[in-house]
Amino acid sequence: MSENPSTDERKNVPETVAIESKLPLNAIDIESQKDMESGRYHALRSLHKWFAARPTPAVRLAVLASVYPGEIDSDKLLRLMKIGPKELDTGIADYVEKKFTEKRSSGTLDDHYGYPNPNRQSPTNSEIEQLQSTLRNAWNGELPTVLDPTAGRGIIPFEAIRYGIPAKANELNPVPSLILKAALEYAPEVGSLDPDIREWRNKILETARENIEPYYPTEESDRQILNSAMTYLIRCDSCGGKIPLVSKWWLNKDSDGGEAILPIYDDGEVQYSHIRAQNAPEDYDPDEGPLRGESAECPHCDVVNEQEEVQRKLHDGEFEFSIYGVNYETSTGERGYRAGNEYDKKGMEKAMERIDSDFNLLSFLSEPVDVSSRISDPSSYGMSEWRDIFNPRQLVVHYEFHQAFEEYKGQILEKYDEQRANAILTVLSLAASRSMYYNTRLNQWHDLRGFGSHIYTDNNLILKKMSVDNNLCAPRRGYMKNSDHVIDSYEKLASYVTHSKPAEVFNGDAGQLTTNIQSESVDVAIVDPPYYDSIMYAELSDVFYVLLKYYLEDTYPDIFDSNLTDKDNEAVANPYRFEEIAEGDQSKKTLADEHYESKMEEIFSELQDVLTPGGVMTVMFTHREMDAWDTLTSALISAGFTITATHPIKTEMSDRVGVQGKASADSSIFLVARKQSTGSKDRTLWEDVQEQIHNAARDQAEEILDSGYNISKTDTAIAAYGPTLQKYAEAYPVVNKKGDEIRPREALGQAREAVTGVLAERFLKTEGLEQLDSLTRWYILSWLIYENDTIPYDEARQLGVAANVDIDNIKRTTKIWGKNKKDIVLKDHNDRVQDIVLLKSDSADNPSTRKYPVNPTDTRFTYTIDTVHAAVHVYEREGPRSAWDWLSDRDLKSNQEFEATVTALLEVLPSDSDMRETLLNLVSGETGDYLNINLDHIDMSGEERQTELGDHQ
Ligand SMILES: C[S@@+](CC[C@H](N)C(=O)[O-])C[C@H]1O[C@@H](n2cnc3c(N)ncnc32)[C@H](O)[C@@H]1O
Ligand SMILES: [Zn+2]
Repeated sequence: MSENPSTDERKNVPETVAIESKLPLNAIDIESQKDMESGRYHALRSLHKWFAARPTPAVRLAVLASVYPGEIDSDKLLRLMKIGPKELDTGIADYVEKKFTEKRSSGTLDDHYGYPNPNRQSPTNSEIEQLQSTLRNAWNGELPTVLDPTAGRGIIPFEAIRYGIPAKANELNPVPSLILKAALEYAPEVGSLDPDIREWRNKILETARENIEPYYPTEESDRQILNSAMTYLIRCDSCGGKIPLVSKWWLNKDSDGGEAILPIYDDGEVQYSHIRAQNAPEDYDPDEGPLRGESAECPHCDVVNEQEEVQRKLHDGEFEFSIYGVNYETSTGERGYRAGNEYDKKGMEKAMERIDSDFNLLSFLSEPVDVSSRISDPSSYGMSEWRDIFNPRQLVVHYEFHQAFEEYKGQILEKYDEQRANAILTVLSLAASRSMYYNTRLNQWHDLRGFGSHIYTDNNLILKKMSVDNNLCAPRRGYMKNSDHVIDSYEKLASYVTHSKPAEVFNGDAGQLTTNIQSESVDVAIVDPPYYDSIMYAELSDVFYVLLKYYLEDTYPDIFDSNLTDKDNEAVANPYRFEEIAEGDQSKKTLADEHYESKMEEIFSELQDVLTPGGVMTVMFTHREMDAWDTLTSALISAGFTITATHPIKTEMSDRVGVQGKASADSSIFLVARKQSTGSKDRTLWEDVQEQIHNAARDQAEEILDSGYNISKTDTAIAAYGPTLQKYAEAYPVVNKKGDEIRPREALGQAREAVTGVLAERFLKTEGLEQLDSLTRWYILSWLIYENDTIPYDEARQLGVAANVDIDNIKRTTKIWGKNKKDIVLKDHNDRVQDIVLLKSDSADNPSTRKYPVNPTDTRFTYTIDTVHAAVHVYEREGPRSAWDWLSDRDLKSNQEFEATVTALLEVLPSDSDMRETLLNLVSGETGDYLNINLDHIDMSGEERQTELGDHQ
């Protein structure tokens, strides 16, 4: 077996760091969950949109515990992380957990917990000094350097410098790279930009306002347009009349009784009038616009214009922009809505004329749209250049703001030193980008709120047929507000790092770190990598990139040296990019996965190079699929890392519903690794480590369950991957008797099996499960672990491996599960058992015989679950007396498998399940007397059970 790095190799690094020992995970999870509530998160998230963010407490933990030598006392760590009330010296973790379970009365979350949001708290100078002195002692007299190779907007390196720890941040994408510049270089080095930056901002706004106002003509001079609801008019295929592509006429459903638009159709034309819902004519329903799904019903002749035609017209530009509603504010600050009118039309027409006649505007934002994913591709609506995502007025507005910015750029550069000037220009550019973010054809008009949303409410770039046109000169939701938001965020960040040294920021491919970073110059790497196809960062960010390039190309020629963002070097799996070269067994998905995997291999191997010997690498694994674990850990291990610790930790809001029906956070894993010497290592025989691996997983599951750590049953299995891989990595390379390499996947399979065993032992009181056929056992275990009929396919399949069923093999014959997107759905008797009444009546037309595999008139069944499903069916279809006959004909009294399956199902099925209810009836009354099943171990308090024959007939 291979050895850990020798003491000699590790002479510059601590023997252990805190993240390699026990941590107060529950308290940190609770804090992370608080952090994920809107309005509470890191100030960095307000600087500019980016597509992924870990909660601050999890990040702080990763940073501090990866550098802190030895073990760290829970109270000390939590205090350093700013968790817990000031006056509490010990027992902070218990305190936080207690608060979490206590009911929250009125007041804020901070009132309830009795301490301020840790996000807004920085360590004191003396805390930083103390920490630095501890670190210097442990790291050979120097402060350890932390590197984040895929830094995104940089919460990890920001927290590092906030705690006085030197940091380097690398990111491929120019958009977050600018955020990194602002937060990691300018905030600590240049500091506050107030009040100057707001003065420049005001000047830009005033200049832009003058040029933009003519595009917002209005009848009532004291009403300023805030934003307008915009749609498209297409001509009907049949009568040629104009159809507005509106599905609902609400402008603001919530305001005083609801405000809407009443369309007036006349002679093929459409006009709008504003109404309050309570005064609406009887035959008018604001919820019924001409747009129905993707097709449109002509209001003039009632003919339905099909989806393809509607889309084609939008695609080919055969439409008119049409403003149907306007949200305005009066000079006294009152807000209201009115219908779109001739003035609004004129504003839009004026913008169109400007675009056609102004040569300078011709090329503005004319970079091509390169978004390959079909569902998200704006070019499917004819928007093939980025400028097309704006209506004419929006385009003119963004152009004018940029012109105004350019007008002051020179003065800014002249007035300040280069750093400060660049800082001001960068933050102002982020503000312009944010304003753009709220003003495109991709922003949905929110009829429930009465204004528009931002582009990425659902992380795609789909054209919205009812969108918003913002007046950026207006105080609300305009440039003023957006720039304040960005500047405030910058100022907050600057106030957090007044004594910090800036981080080194690199804009480059993490697969080529050594271009910028010296070998063995980094002590700790903290990696939060992209994950396969979950987010296409580059494609989503071009919309910002093209605009920001206009603003900052001459400031950062290197960052903006390409037309669009770099999609070739991005570590994501995007099948659409491989469409053209995929052939044969090389599906585009395979090619995309391979691209991602080889990129991650490169990244790990570069990290191996830049880390000092024995250096620490903490990787945040948000992956749930075993295959992802297999590839990534094998990349990591073959790059020369050994795994030293793992911790389950909650870093993501879950979209699944937790055990108590509450949304809960999903766990990811912090996997801690050390750089090992890369010499050749002895091979280990799989047979020699298999049992150790199994036991390691088992021990971890038991330890987690004993510790009271709050984690779902599913996540327990994922949490056990850590120690499993640790054993595997120690033994690496692992081979079978023939000398073939055993992949991490095999070890993970062992872990699944071990954990399933532990969960069954802990949570199932029914005995004799091992006696059951594998299909029945898998069915019961699935319900036990997922507490739901819907299970991610990959996990169900893994559970199948643990229970010895190939779920794909049995699907067709047993129909015990069905597919629903990436999930499987467990079927019950309703979808599996043929109708006994029809079978008996010998009816020629019995569709259920064709559809369902289980014939309840059989006397023997292949699987016990079939027997149970058939029994449940008979009971429901024919009542208890027939069920009694049915059971006794098949001699099911004292049938051990039948009994074990029934009681296990009673244990695992949710209390509102119909199948469970029937099972309860089956074990009660006369059928119950007959079966005589021992139910002592099943908790049925509060259950209503059928007691007399005939109750259900
Ligand atoms: C999960 S995100 C990081 C989020 C960050 N930890 C935060 O909390 O804000 C992963 C990042 O990796 C970046 N990325 C993708 N491929 C890369 C590459 N080859 N080199 C460097 N960064 C890359 C993406 O642009 C993305 O910002
Ligand atoms: Zn028509």
